[in-house]
Amino acid sequence: MKVLEELLKIMESGESENISGQELSERLGVSRAAVWKAVDKLRAQGYQIEAAPNRGYKLIKSGDMLSKQQIEALLPEKLREKTEILLFKTINSTNTYGKKLAADGAKSGTVIIADQQTEGRGRRGHSFYSPPKTGLYMSVILRPQGFAADIDMVTVCAGCAVCRAVENLTDRKPMIKWVNDIFIDDKKICGILSEGVTDFEAGSVDSIVVGIGVNVTTDIFPQEIENKAGALNCQIPRSKIAAEIIKQLFECLNSTREKNIAEYKSRSLVLGKEISYFRNNFPRQGRAVDIDQKGQLIVETEDGRETLNAGEISVKL
Ligand code: BTN
Repeated sequence: MKVLEELLKIMESGESENISGQELSERLGVSRAAVWKAVDKLRAQGYQIEAAPNRGYKLIKSGDMLSKQQIEALLPEKLREKTEILLFKTINSTNTYGKKLAADGAKSGTVIIADQQTEGRGRRGHSFYSPPKTGLYMSVILRPQGFAADIDMVTVCAGCAVCRAVENLTDRKPMIKWVNDIFIDDKKICGILSEGVTDFEAGSVDSIVVGIGVNVTTDIFPQEIENKAGALNCQIPRSKIAAEIIKQLFECLNSTREKNIAEYKSRSLVLGKEISYFRNNFPRQGRAVDIDQKGQLIVETEDGRETLNAGEISVKL
């Protein structure tokens, strides 16, 4: 285990207690200078660690802090090797940054996570409310060579992954509102934004940045979304939720289209329901009857069947 990871583990197990530099250096098997350096790195990540002569170090209770070390430690070893976690206290948008990194050649499996976003983005130009300490905002860079599934399955996989993670960690039963909003008890607790990064020379999608925003304990929302938005409302550490989503995302990405679509359908909030939507700027209504193998929604209208591949739908919940 790396020094930083091990140091955090020791300090967390004796949270709010002093532990001497000498003891840390012995337990970690490194010099006291190396301990000091590691403490400094943890501080840079936002941990509050007091240091006093003769008494040593003390980790001040941190609440639910996101931790790169904890996330990495919770990933299966094989996945840890394939991923790289980049953690930020504040960022404009993990997707915006992810797209820049992807264009600069970042490897598939790079995960950008932030405690807060100042310009969190949603679909269709909406913003995504991203306050500090209470939410999980992350983006994963995926290149087609990095997983077995076809690239058009990324959105489906992300939705299923979030649902699986929530089910594995809590007693809540999330559902997916097509295309990719995650709901619990009629409230949206998570939004997903998948964006392609194009290789202009090859004229193809070079990578996808899939952004996932989860309201974990957020309880106050801006007025315009306060009736629709909700949160997981659980005491699970955000790092644990992040690791579980990453794990489940890669499991889905290495599964078959048939299995992913079957799971996506079984989690659908809209199938069998009356929905309304816009097509070519005209309001339409119908019953959502199926989701095809491309993840498209099949709607039965009075004029026959229609296939929707994107866009906003409204459903009476
Ligand atoms: C939506 O609900 O319309 C999609 C919301 C997606 C939000 C996530 S949070 C992490 C990533 N970074 C962003 O700026 N957006 C996505």
